[in-house]
Amino acid sequence: MSKPRRVFHISVHLPHREIAIPVLLLLLIVAVVVFMMFPRHHPVSPTTLDQDLALPVAEKPSNAQLADKALNARVEKLLGSMSLDEKIGQLTQYTGGEWTGPEGNSLDYDAMIERGEIGSLFNVVGAYSTNRYQHLAVEKSPLHIPLLFGYDVIHGEHTIFPVPLALASSFDPDLVRQVAHVAAGEAADDGIRWVFSPMVDIARDARWGRITEGAGEDTFLGSILARAYVEGYQGDDLSKPDAVAACVKHYAAYGAANAGREYNTVDMSELTLRQVYLPPYHAGVAAGAATVMSAFNPLNGVPATANPFTLTEILRHEWKFDGVVVSDYGAIRELINHGVASNGSVAARKALLAGVDMDMESDLYRTRLADLVQSSQVPPAALDEAVRRVLRIKFALGLFDHPYTAEKKGTPVITAEKRALARKAAEETLVLLKNAVAVPDTAPVLPLAKNVPSIALIGPLADSALDMLGSWPAEGRMSDVVTLRAALEDRFKDGKTKVLYAKGTSILSDSDAGFAEAVAAARQASVVILALGESAATMTGESSSLTRLDLPGNQEELLETITALGKPTVLVLFDGRPLALKWAAAHVPAILEAWYPGIEAGPAVTDILFGDANPSGKLPVTFPRAVGQEPLYYNQLPTGRPADQIDLTHPPIGADKYFSRYIDETNAPLFPFGFGLSYTQFAYSNLKLEPSTISLATLQPGKGGLFAPAPAVRVRFDVKNTGSVPGVEIAQLYLRNTGGSMEEPVRELKGFQRVGLKPGESKQIELTLGFSEISYYNFDLKRVIEPTEYHVWVGGSSGATLDAQFEVTP
Ligand code: NOJ
Repeated sequence: MSKPRRVFHISVHLPHREIAIPVLLLLLIVAVVVFMMFPRHHPVSPTTLDQDLALPVAEKPSNAQLADKALNARVEKLLGSMSLDEKIGQLTQYTGGEWTGPEGNSLDYDAMIERGEIGSLFNVVGAYSTNRYQHLAVEKSPLHIPLLFGYDVIHGEHTIFPVPLALASSFDPDLVRQVAHVAAGEAADDGIRWVFSPMVDIARDARWGRITEGAGEDTFLGSILARAYVEGYQGDDLSKPDAVAACVKHYAAYGAANAGREYNTVDMSELTLRQVYLPPYHAGVAAGAATVMSAFNPLNGVPATANPFTLTEILRHEWKFDGVVVSDYGAIRELINHGVASNGSVAARKALLAGVDMDMESDLYRTRLADLVQSSQVPPAALDEAVRRVLRIKFALGLFDHPYTAEKKGTPVITAEKRALARKAAEETLVLLKNAVAVPDTAPVLPLAKNVPSIALIGPLADSALDMLGSWPAEGRMSDVVTLRAALEDRFKDGKTKVLYAKGTSILSDSDAGFAEAVAAARQASVVILALGESAATMTGESSSLTRLDLPGNQEELLETITALGKPTVLVLFDGRPLALKWAAAHVPAILEAWYPGIEAGPAVTDILFGDANPSGKLPVTFPRAVGQEPLYYNQLPTGRPADQIDLTHPPIGADKYFSRYIDETNAPLFPFGFGLSYTQFAYSNLKLEPSTISLATLQPGKGGLFAPAPAVRVRFDVKNTGSVPGVEIAQLYLRNTGGSMEEPVRELKGFQRVGLKPGESKQIELTLGFSEISYYNFDLKRVIEPTEYHVWVGGSSGATLDAQFEVTP
């Protein structure tokens, strides 16, 4: 992938000689002032700069459309005519359908809309339903302000694509952009102009069920995909009929819940917050996301929904976010449970003043804000500002001009084009974890022979349309899903290959009543495909934290029973998180991680199993050997006693004990971040860095280094397909900095590119490292480059070994 990057071109033209000298003097003074601002106590003179400029996109304001003068003039005019209650109405949101939280309101929404007391509804879907409410708002409410309809469109609306964790396995931002664009169009056709996506929470703990909803554990990948989602949803103009407002969530650091337990507290240094967790939110905001959702969790003792530091200081002041912040479901009311609000009024005041513009489902802005304003506990200006933000989005979306959605007859059709995209997406997201021989001196189990005489298809996920849709299936229909069983039966409908299906067990069962049938099917077959995993609806997504990461129910027993038959066996995993599959990795010859692939699950999996497509997905999360290793992620900080040189396969003997290790398990993951096999092999060579020495002076602001379009270091290397079939490799670049003022991770992803290669073909890849990749936060929380050494690795996973160094000299 060539990394899109916004850069700053600074050119100074001096038209007249007379003004040249004063201008140069002024520039000199500015340079001296900037220099004086550098922290003096630092051991080396670091390069520091404004954080906004350090991040991938540095536009101000965050969304130019929302800052448009004519649009804002309309906003001001309308605001000037609004009563206090009407203003509060714009900040009030309810679910008009399903409750997506523990409790909800049952109010007379029709009457409230007519009185202008509601600004937004969510979970109301379809042109007919949204139009019905919209008519009340536009025709009956005093100021005719349209409603904004929101919905959890997470990986598709009708055309359901792979879950976001799967999409991240593609390392393909273009694909993500296309998927989000299709989802936006379908949502808009359903009257939805606001999707509660993307979820960009970094998740390093597989116990946390919501790991399935995001891009996994890596900040760099997560930031690039956050931008892609926002661009896909919003396009270049929110008012286009197929554009929807994106919602970057859950701000902030929701994915770092202690012990992986849902809604649990988050406690972390500001350094880790800024370095690891914030960049994906910032990338989404910088890409122009119209809205952000505040999270449920507290962050360092302050609930995210009443946190002025994250919501105002960082989001508004540092990132110049000019969109709307909506609370998560009932989160304002939950401030009482957090113990920071003694009652609903305090909760409403704290949330609004911290920077939450819209109250999702707590019913506290509607019931408390008027009193708070009238008693001067909330300044009218703070209220007005929140209302402005909401109105801006409604104007930008064109809702005042086109409030209604065309009502089409019949159920929405999934076109062949969309189905093809869903299949491509699913194929790109499957990760081949293992492919060994089943019988010595034969070929690896995969790809399966196209004329295999018989297949036993076993397992509770083999024919489960519901699970293929993943968590948050939006309006996805089971009838649109092609399961693995359906795809296999269709593929072999001529009867030349027999498909013997046996469910074997349920996802969560302790009955082995179905084992005998499964064993009989496996015995008769030439190959066995076991489709095992998790229940998408009940074990993944929100409120689905686990303390165990092995296959649920008795699926492990079924797996062991069938594998013992010694047939060429493939384990296909349908799940929403990394599972701990130690036994499987040691004993099952082939393992394919399929996640939840969406409506084209079956065709995509069969394409890969039979070699019509070559697997290319790479893991966006680390797979543990045991749950006790969690949180487990590749970009850890170093320790003083690294265990790299120690044999960890047995309990410590003597001095082996005094290393950073477990005594009952190795430190290594089962499968590392970035890992994924192909039916071909790739070789990396000729790694060259240019330059290999850079003077810090050339990286000083104003001298062309930091703000210049030229990247600081070009990393070039060759990737060759050394196998016998075409394949796509995701070439990855990892970086480590040593010698600086702070510890930096043992390695971090800083570049990647998908590259398609024919057998024997070789291509040179060039990835560039600029300021955002090289810099890091120092103790003063400034992004700096210091005179230090950098180690670069390139390869096909976070275990990449081809390496080189460059140095930043004083
Ligand atoms: C709660 C979830 O945390 C959030 O992701 C979702 O958008 C809202 N409910 C609305 O359903």
